[in-house]
Amino acid sequence: MEPVLDWEQRYRESTTAWERDQLNPAFEQWQADFSEAPGRVILPGCGRAAEVIAFAQLGWQVTGIDLAETAIDYQRNALHEAGLEGELMASNLFDWQPPCPADLVYEQTCLCALHPDQWPAYEQQLLRWLKPGGRLAALFMQAERDAQGPPFHCDLESMHAIFSADRWQWGDRAVRAEHPLGFYELGVLLTRL
Ligand SMILES: C[S@@+](CC[C@H](N)C(=O)[O-])C[C@H]1O[C@@H](n2cnc3c(N)ncnc32)[C@H](O)[C@@H]1O
Repeated sequence: MEPVLDWEQRYRESTTAWERDQLNPAFEQWQADFSEAPGRVILPGCGRAAEVIAFAQLGWQVTGIDLAETAIDYQRNALHEAGLEGELMASNLFDWQPPCPADLVYEQTCLCALHPDQWPAYEQQLLRWLKPGGRLAALFMQAERDAQGPPFHCDLESMHAIFSADRWQWGDRAVRAEHPLGFYELGVLLTRL
């Protein structure tokens, strides 16, 4: 299935209203937890988000993947300028597998950028990327509308159906992360069973 937007063009035109100029509030709340045992983290649809550098600064082995070359070039330069290392790939996340499974996937509004028909395949991909016991930090966009996305509304009932209890253990607390566009995201930590 074709991407729902020409993401590369959006970065080139700077029509990227989803971007924050700071860390996601949910990341800040999870930061102490993320600092405890750094391992391998994958950021699908990482865009130009500051969390790529933030994870590298915390000692994680970072892999960022995005369709948009402009965003990947940005991250590569940002890591280089910060004297940090990481793997960055301009690729479709559905076409890529890590050489070994990860400890954490940080899903920051990539799901809401995919057509809902792709969500089950995305969940299966995240399952393949993670080791058993690995975690998924998910920012589920609450667009609260039925209109065409992106962002597509990620209501929690649908998320529970896709990230189902036979494959994922849900954390008991959701973090509400306000977005400058007036939406908010619900941040949830899930564990791959
Ligand atoms: C809403 S943006 C979020 C970007 C970033 N995570 C952030 O918080 O700023 C969605 C991102 O997903 C990327 N994306 C969309 N479909 C993708 C796909 N199939 N494979 C890889 N990246 C994809 C887009 O290029 C875009 O950077």
